[in-house]
Amino acid sequence: VPQFFLSCPKGLEEMLENEARLVLGEHVKGLKQEDGGIKLNTDTEQFLYLMLSTRIGSRGHMQLGQWPLYDMQELKQLAMEFPVEEHMSVEQTFKINTLFDPLARQEFKNSMLTSQVFKDGIADRFRAKKGVRPSVDLKNPDITFLLRIEGARNAKKVAPYMLTLYCDLSGPPLSNRSYRVSEHVAPLRENVAASLVYKATFEADDTFLFDPFVGTGTILAEAAMYKANAVPSFLNLPVWRKYYAFARQLWFKADKGLNEKVDSWARDQYEKSRTGLLQLPGNFFYGSDIDRSAIGMAQQTMAALGIEKKVHMNVADALKAMPPKSTKGLIICNPPYGERLSTPEEADKLFYDLGEHFKTNFKGHRAFFLSGDPKAYKNIHLKTSCKMPVYNGDIDCRLLGYKLF
Ligand SMILES: C[S@@+](CC[C@H](N)C(=O)[O-])C[C@H]1O[C@@H](n2cnc3c(N)ncnc32)[C@H](O)[C@@H]1O
Repeated sequence: VPQFFLSCPKGLEEMLENEARLVLGEHVKGLKQEDGGIKLNTDTEQFLYLMLSTRIGSRGHMQLGQWPLYDMQELKQLAMEFPVEEHMSVEQTFKINTLFDPLARQEFKNSMLTSQVFKDGIADRFRAKKGVRPSVDLKNPDITFLLRIEGARNAKKVAPYMLTLYCDLSGPPLSNRSYRVSEHVAPLRENVAASLVYKATFEADDTFLFDPFVGTGTILAEAAMYKANAVPSFLNLPVWRKYYAFARQLWFKADKGLNEKVDSWARDQYEKSRTGLLQLPGNFFYGSDIDRSAIGMAQQTMAALGIEKKVHMNVADALKAMPPKSTKGLIICNPPYGERLSTPEEADKLFYDLGEHFKTNFKGHRAFFLSGDPKAYKNIHLKTSCKMPVYNGDIDCRLLGYKLF
């Protein structure tokens, strides 16, 4: 069984594991959490479905080989010995990315240089075998290889490091759902928004979801897709052959059976997702923002998903906004914070005021915040029901949950 690596924002490894187990059921073997992702064994077909179904994952990779490694010199040798022509043709463009663990970083230091050494090895092999070398394309390559170099940890280690070579199967990050039409100043990663939705969990008697800092509407979009049982790849499915990297790779093109299976899976999921979204209740999703242009962007997001009539939005200051209904509901939001939108002092005050406003006016509901300041909870004078670290890009955030009873 082939081995795969599915990456995710740091902090979400456990959530990704749970999701993978749910999607793959008995098809998954040897699943292990790593820093920033999970490793697992499964059929290639199943892994492709997981990639197209994960709300939390960032990129999917297939393992091509693993070798003990001494140093840079040996890395070049390994690159020349690896039968790369089985994975790409010389007309295809490629790119190498390298990731280290702290131990490997001490030895290899520079990931760009390391990638270059491996790239030279691949190019030399092609030239020796075919007389020509493939081109590197850093922006839009046909094939991206990932080198993971780690300090060898097991007792019987034969070399100080371990090299794992992967090939990227996703292309654009899986978190790109293609519903966000315009770019916001402070974008929230779609998979981080999905983690808020998972963590907050809808209860059967919830009567609304409200995002008072709606921005481009990422949280409402992820929540709607989740509630509708729509796959996060929904909008990419009609163009999956063009969109996902695996569809352009030699092994995939050669497997006609697999091509047909993925094609029929994609059609089926697209239809189910569309139907699910159409059937969403028309009085459940609410959003507001102080900035009128943000509301416009959020409306575009909803329109991309075909649910613009089901999501109610208006311009409002979150510190004055009231719950859309008096019956039990859920608030999930991502208020502005120091690093991107306002000064740290303003962010502190906003979180304090928000805590007070919610304490008084949102009794009976549950609220979840994503905060870009890990200490923001100190400014919210309410008892947390959840305080989970998660990275939005390279910003150390906290997911804070409150029961407002
Ligand atoms: C970090 S962004 C939210 C991003 C959003 N989650 C998305 O998916 O794009 C914060 C948003 O809060 C809005 N905002 C700032 N202060 C506000 C306030 N007092 N009341 C309501 N919205 C506010 C900003 O206009 C901005 O759109």
